[in-house]
Amino acid sequence: MNKRLIQDPIHLVELMGADGGAFAGALAARSLYPDSDFEAITVRGPNRRNDFHTEPYDEFFLQLRGAIQVDTREQGIGLRRHIVREGEAFLVPGGVPHSPHRPAGTLGLVVEIRRRPGDVETAEWWCDSCDSLVERVEMESTEMISSLGPLLEAFNASEQRRTCRNCAAVVPVPEEFVLDVDAG
Ligand SMILES: [Fe+2]
Repeated sequence: MNKRLIQDPIHLVELMGADGGAFAGALAARSLYPDSDFEAITVRGPNRRNDFHTEPYDEFFLQLRGAIQVDTREQGIGLRRHIVREGEAFLVPGGVPHSPHRPAGTLGLVVEIRRRPGDVETAEWWCDSCDSLVERVEMESTEMISSLGPLLEAFNASEQRRTCRNCAAVVPVPEEFVLDVDAG
């Protein structure tokens, strides 16, 4: 028997528009229903990310305000940039490395499947200069938001970890993202 109480509907734009900035942390994300089977995440840009995140399950994006860029690395296809505009839905299949970039002032919803014990997700960083893999970190956690953020911040704090072993280029610390929609 499910004993959770039904909550009143949530107005996402009102919820996320309460103050002007992003949510705290690299992901700029907050779980909407922490006890649900779904990990429904509200995201308010800007985020600051340069990692490619991979999880076992599909990830659904619904963009509520403004446009974002989601980079993916599909097997056999390589790096692709997708622009997800206001009002658009987007799905990243499980197992596909993806890197969402969210400009300031954007609001979005991401729905994932809550991880179960034993599920493994990864963060990868790739060299801008030679496209080699710079680092891959595995993570097992049922609390994705609180676990992944510090992992990304630790990587960005270390120039040694950010240095490409193939060509010695350094992966830059991610700045606030500005989207050039025409370029997408
Ligand atoms: Fe490199």
